Amino acid sequence: MIKISDITEMRRLALSWRQKGLKTVLVPTMGFFHQGHLSLMDMARSLGQKVVVSLFVNPAQFGPAEDLDKYPRDIERDVRLAEQHGVDCIFIPDASDIYNAQHQTWIEVTEVSRGLCGASRPGHFRGVATVVAKLFNIVQPDMAVFGEKDFQQLQVIRTMVRDLDIPVEIKSHPTVREPDGLAMSSRNSYLSPEERKTAVCLFRAIQLARKMIADGERNRETVVKRLYELIHSYKDAKVDYIFLGDPETLAENSHISPPALLALAVYVNRTRLIDNCIISAD
Ligand code: PAJ
Repeated sequence: MIKISDITEMRRLALSWRQKGLKTVLVPTMGFFHQGHLSLMDMARSLGQKVVVSLFVNPAQFGPAEDLDKYPRDIERDVRLAEQHGVDCIFIPDASDIYNAQHQTWIEVTEVSRGLCGASRPGHFRGVATVVAKLFNIVQPDMAVFGEKDFQQLQVIRTMVRDLDIPVEIKSHPTVREPDGLAMSSRNSYLSPEERKTAVCLFRAIQLARKMIADGERNRETVVKRLYELIHSYKDAKVDYIFLGDPETLAENSHISPPALLALAVYVNRTRLIDNCIISAD
């Protein structure tokens, strides 16, 4: 596996592959790999001939009061894991190269960035869209793989690619979960053993919503109210938002018409966790 931090070097390597007709698949990450990231790499491996994983904790997608400084990092372990999963190149750029001192160009995907995480984290998706566009420009992959765990992020990127005619095919991978249902996340490492027990409330909420809708409930407020009650019955859990609406437009309606997206963000003390699922009619 080749390890690169220089942008020009990355661009050259990717170009040499393209000239040989090799399909390149990019997996953008912020590192501290768990099975979710590794499954994306395995999927990328099966999709093309060359796999690039980018590891960059992107300052532009963190708010001033967020966890940029304490975001978990273990580059040595990440490099080892990527190599074990057949990655051809790990790209670890410096923040000062990605954002030059005069950087002033930003990509804003308006509608789909507004609600859900966009409402609680102003500027977050602007940072995500911009860095992903930059990574696409540097690597120029044929395909890129993203996790459904960050459903709104996936929609933001799909919208950006469509609107800006970016020639990259976006592939998604289902959410990888712990045995008790908790979605894997680098941020799970913040949880104390007691908080870890509380963290299962997001998956329990998903299960409850699925059951209520399968049993015929179609009133959004009724479902959402029950989910609030369930989550707040767990120690130190506080709902940030619960969204139940259209998976494409990310608009909510008082009547639930499956397939519906349930997406939620919950604080377990200071750690903010997200999860989602698509609920079908049956
Ligand atoms: P990060 O949180 O490191 O996630 C990298 C990729 O892994 C994303 O596509 C995310 O959706 C996916 N992922 C995370 N947890 C997952 C899980 N449990 N199951 C399946 N996939 C999972 O998302 C980001 O980084 C950044 O916003 C990034 C896109 C790299 C831009 O900076």
